[in-house]
Amino acid sequence: MTPPPRIVELPPAEAPRDLLLLADPSPARLDAYLPAARCFAARRDGATVGACAVMPLGGDSFELMSIAVAPEAQRQGIGTRLLRHVIAATAAAGAKRLEVGTGSFGYQLAFYQRHGFRIESVDRDFFVRNYPEAIVEDGIRLRDMVRLARTVPPET
Ligand SMILES: CC(C)(COP(=O)(O)OP(=O)(O)OC[C@H]1O[C@@H](n2cnc3c(N)ncnc32)[C@H](O)[C@@H]1OP(=O)(O)O)[C@@H](O)C(=O)NCCC(=O)NCCS
Repeated sequence: MTPPPRIVELPPAEAPRDLLLLADPSPARLDAYLPAARCFAARRDGATVGACAVMPLGGDSFELMSIAVAPEAQRQGIGTRLLRHVIAATAAAGAKRLEVGTGSFGYQLAFYQRHGFRIESVDRDFFVRNYPEAIVEDGIRLRDMVRLARTVPPET
């Protein structure tokens, strides 16, 4: 049986950029937030199979900036483990609220809601304004960002 991954915290300079770029394909945006973020990686059999980055927003709010699992390791519960770890780590750091922004359609929106996030607002045309290239998924141009949030730590 495949062993469960181990979650470790890394200095931002050692974050697996290739994985984080799966969640947000903009290197410029990654470079802008990464130095101030806390980064976590999921390791299995010596390989890094998942990563995420979370940023303090001020006060007791944090934002999950990116979370990604290597394509060959997806749908094995690694994203869920990473997310639970981030929720526990930010709660231990005094967080009361965790925010995330994601596309307006697709399984990612369901993934976050499955983990207790509720929709708060829609940032219309976010992906049009902030990305030079059109992002197309399932044949649909991604335009709008859905903003979600949940309290931490309550049950995941
Ligand atoms: C979103 C992501 C981090 C989830 O990590 P994961 O390890 O695959 O997630 P888990 O195994 O914990 O949960 C899987 C559930 O998410 C959904 N899911 C994950 N990948 C999916 C896919 N490619 N297609 C459809 N549903 C998917 C399913 O509901 C799945 O449950 P199921 O396998 O029982 O049907 C991962 O799929 C990923 O890296 N995606 C690409 C990057 C990305 O989009 N990041 C989020 C940016 S907003």
